[in-house]
Amino acid sequence: MPAIEVKNLKKSYGNTVALNGISFNVEEGEIFGLLGPNGAGKTTAIDIIAGLLTKDSGEVKILNKMPDDAKQEMNVVSSNTWLTGIMSVYENLKVYGMLYGVKDLDERIGNLLELFEMKKFRNELYQRLSAGQQTRVNLCKGLINSPKILLLDECTAGLDPNLADKTRKIIKGLKKKTAILFTSHNMLEVERLCDRIAFLQSGAITWMGPSNKLKQMHGKRTLEEVFIKLARGQA
Ligand SMILES: Nc1ncnc2c1ncn2[C@@H]1O[C@H](COP(=O)(O)OP(=O)(O)OP(=O)(O)O)[C@@H](O)[C@H]1O
Ligand SMILES: [Mg+2]
Repeated sequence: MPAIEVKNLKKSYGNTVALNGISFNVEEGEIFGLLGPNGAGKTTAIDIIAGLLTKDSGEVKILNKMPDDAKQEMNVVSSNTWLTGIMSVYENLKVYGMLYGVKDLDERIGNLLELFEMKKFRNELYQRLSAGQQTRVNLCKGLINSPKILLLDECTAGLDPNLADKTRKIIKGLKKKTAILFTSHNMLEVERLCDRIAFLQSGAITWMGPSNKLKQMHGKRTLEEVFIKLARGQA
């Protein structure tokens, strides 16, 4: 049974077709990268899978259940944050932890703040944090319920190189127990982390498989070179 199953998913915003019938599976123990140019439909797909946005048609199943029935086992980290500026880091994490019914919540929050080097900001208002610090709180929120399914939409954007590296190691460490759907515009990061990728262009998947194979097919050394070639329509 795939961890995430997406079949013929379609979504339009008015006349804009964001997803034109995409299908893919993410297996347990896999990091699956969704790549593509700005506006390709990555965030739309993630938000639908997370149950934050309604689809027009198609099917999404999480651990063989409807997304609404799998919410406790899933979490999402995205730049569209729902954390509250006028609450502290701790209070924000407490609210989410309670929503997920996390046991030993204070200990869990403490461990996550430690992991992302955010302990000293525990009582700071979320709105007073820098962009990268806010991202780190988002990562804490994303891991609060030890999810089996983790959706990461540009979760390292804005992190300094040290924290980005640390975060990649943490993500890699989660892999055994967690199926991860990952988006990033950092192709080196995608090459390092993702077992398979899907290349999304104008709402359609144009290629899916391991990034090494894609590089070979195009005779390129790096995924970044392939991305540029595909995005410029020289495929
Ligand atoms: N709320 C919205 N209202 C109208 N159109 C939208 C909305 N959100 C996204 N779109 C459109 O849907 C398409 C897909 O957008 P989406 O945010 O999913 O792309 P993306 O692949 O995540 O891009 P990026 O790399 O910039 O994050 C784009 O054409 C965008 O303009
Ligand atoms: Mg996006």
